[in-house]
Amino acid sequence: MKIMSGTVLLSAAAGTMVGSLCLWAQRGDPVVPFPDGYRRWAHVKSTVVGPGSAAFAGERGIHHFYANEKALNGYRSGAFPDGSVLVDDLLETKESAGITTEGPRRRLAVMVKDRQRFGEAGGWGFEVFKGDGREATLGTETKAACFACHKNGRDSVFSELRP
Ligand code: HEC
Repeated sequence: MKIMSGTVLLSAAAGTMVGSLCLWAQRGDPVVPFPDGYRRWAHVKSTVVGPGSAAFAGERGIHHFYANEKALNGYRSGAFPDGSVLVDDLLETKESAGITTEGPRRRLAVMVKDRQRFGEAGGWGFEVFKGDGREATLGTETKAACFACHKNGRDSVFSELRP
């Protein structure tokens, strides 16, 4: 009996702690989660950024763009609904016998549409996951820099979906 009530007390305390941690997280930047399963989404397009590009240092490699079902509707209509997720999967390139193939992942750049949570950035949350990591890496200023450029796109999206 004594042990049981101790356990109840302990779990109540743990519950309060988790609750305050959540509150604390909510006060910081809203979170963009890792886009689980994105490799099974629609492939929008691929681009290769080579040495001739001014953005080579940061963007070099093969970019594969993916869109979830909601984002596909956004490409069609020009207005991306809440729940849209877009992924820019950036891989190193490998050269062998005149053939360029995919190397390891450099990073995953993600955009999530949620007008309530990301209202200040046109309704979009921006995040970058480095290498094969699942940890969010962007600070507030970098997220603002993503939007400063992306706001020039169609509903903040640059790529287009070919029919
Ligand atoms: C200087 C402008 C610029 C900045 C800054 C920028 N992007 Fe982009 N981004 C682009 C362009 C241009 C494309 C489309 C490339 C293409 O179609 O080949 C793009 C594409 C994307 C896409 C695919 C959806 C789309 O718009 O086509 C995602 C996701 C993305 N960027 C995330 C980010 C994140 C996260 C950041 C900040 C770390 C960021 N971008 C910073 C210009 C920028």
